[in-house]
Amino acid sequence: MNLLILNRLTAEKLNAVVELDRLCFGGLWTLEGYQREVDSSHSDLFGLFLPFSSLLVGFGCLWSIVDEAHITILAVHPEHQRQGLGQAILVALLWSANQRGLERASLEVRASNESAIALYQKFGFKTAGRRRKYYQDTGEDALILWRGDLQAPEFTNTLATWQQETSDLIFQSTGYQLQLDLPEWGAGEPAPCGGSPH
Ligand SMILES: CC(C)(COP(=O)(O)OP(=O)(O)OC[C@H]1O[C@@H](n2cnc3c(N)ncnc32)[C@H](O)[C@@H]1OP(=O)(O)O)[C@@H](O)C(=O)NCCC(=O)NCCS
Repeated sequence: MNLLILNRLTAEKLNAVVELDRLCFGGLWTLEGYQREVDSSHSDLFGLFLPFSSLLVGFGCLWSIVDEAHITILAVHPEHQRQGLGQAILVALLWSANQRGLERASLEVRASNESAIALYQKFGFKTAGRRRKYYQDTGEDALILWRGDLQAPEFTNTLATWQQETSDLIFQSTGYQLQLDLPEWGAGEPAPCGGSPH
């Protein structure tokens, strides 16, 4: 079976992350920056891999701060965009936030980044504010997006539905089966996307 594997990034994969970061953002974080995320128990840094080539096609990160999941970065390789991979990473980050007991998720996004804003809106993020001239390179504003209710009783079902829909979408668009290889969410076995991580 052709699998697309989402797992926690480890130190030996960080060169690939830095390369994809350069391609998508022009070099936002350094290798040392990503290493700090790998080392921190307050961070989740997830990657999506094509297993046969071991190609990293996407990654995302959140910081757990008090009761909030701050999504710090999310990117999909330009040649693999619009196939559901971005939403697979976002849903995994929201799963993780839920598992960590966090109440809400937040992030900053360039006001002109319509594709990212559309992605976040699709998963219930709303605009909570604007940081003027937040990005030093262009002087562009950031929108602050926010999503609450991560501990609402129905949110676990919502996440399971999103995972199933995302898995179906990816299979239709790529022919790959999405697999969440996050043993700490299950009983030590990789959980197929759409299955319960509990
Ligand atoms: C934003 C990004 C991660 C989206 O990843 P992706 O894999 O292409 O997105 P998906 O295929 O999972 O799309 C999911 C949803 O996002 C929205 N979306 C994604 N790309 C879009 C586009 N070009 N135009 C409009 N909506 C878009 C849509 O709502 C889409 O759902 P739909 O297909 O049902 O319409 C990707 O474009 C990217 O890496 N951009 C460069 C880095 C970046 O800007 N990251 C965000 C920083 S906050």
